Amino acid sequence: MYSSIVQTLAVVASLAAYSVDATALRRSTKRLSQGTSWTLEAWGYDDKSKGYMIDIDLQTKSKDYVKSLANGGQYVVCYFSAGTAEDWRPDYLAMMEYASQNSRYPGEHWMDITRWSSFKHLIKARMEEAVEKGCHGIETDNTDAYEYGSTAVKGETKESLKPYQIAYLRWMADTAHDLGLEIALKNTVDLIPDLIDHMDYAINESCAKFSANSYCSNYEAFVKQDKAVFGVEYNTNGDCKDAQAEGIMRKYKNSNGNQWVNC
Ligand SMILES: *[C@@H]1O[C@H](CO)[C@@H](O)[C@H](O)[C@H]1NC(C)=O
Repeated sequence: MYSSIVQTLAVVASLAAYSVDATALRRSTKRLSQGTSWTLEAWGYDDKSKGYMIDIDLQTKSKDYVKSLANGGQYVVCYFSAGTAEDWRPDYLAMMEYASQNSRYPGEHWMDITRWSSFKHLIKARMEEAVEKGCHGIETDNTDAYEYGSTAVKGETKESLKPYQIAYLRWMADTAHDLGLEIALKNTVDLIPDLIDHMDYAINESCAKFSANSYCSNYEAFVKQDKAVFGVEYNTNGDCKDAQAEGIMRKYKNSNGNQWVNC
């Protein structure tokens, strides 16, 4: 009895030491709090502004590039799609083994998130690539697959997919943190209450366009915890007054639609 208590205590102590190390690593970077400026170089964009945070593509950018950004004082977020298999990625064939039959865009299939725990090693490998390249955080895209129900995974519904989506996202956040990375919640707004304590900041597309009264109130939970919310609008009217009031660092397209303007 006594020795099993001692063993249990030893295990608890080593787990505690491990999580303290990971937390210390994470805290060594500046937190992305409310009001953080940013640059969007991921998703195929070439944003000329120089923000404190810069969002870049994980798999097409080099370690030297990440290093140059970090040396220049920027906080680097590395983007990858966690919810689709894209045919231009180096690990595409491995991802396709766990993809659903349904395509999202040409050359891009939804992952079958009911099997997330079978393909999580592929996602962890991408996080390790982010660590190796020196990224501070990650943006994991297409984590709202569950909202598409059978359009994403045949025979499933939004309700049947939701628990898989939440478990997959919590695993991603925990794994990122264990590796010393921070993580953004990308879109996936209906799960904010389930995930707010796991996510370090948020990135949203088109909340002014899609919210009732253009008001992005779903993000209040992030604002309350002083976590940054980064937003883009694809129209040429940024509703900047609202964005400032709502605590959203917003970009929108200029009148030619070819360059981002910061609110
Ligand atoms: C961005 O947030 C709004 C709610 O504030 C939501 O309606 C919208 O669907 C989100 N964007 C995407 C692409 O999910």
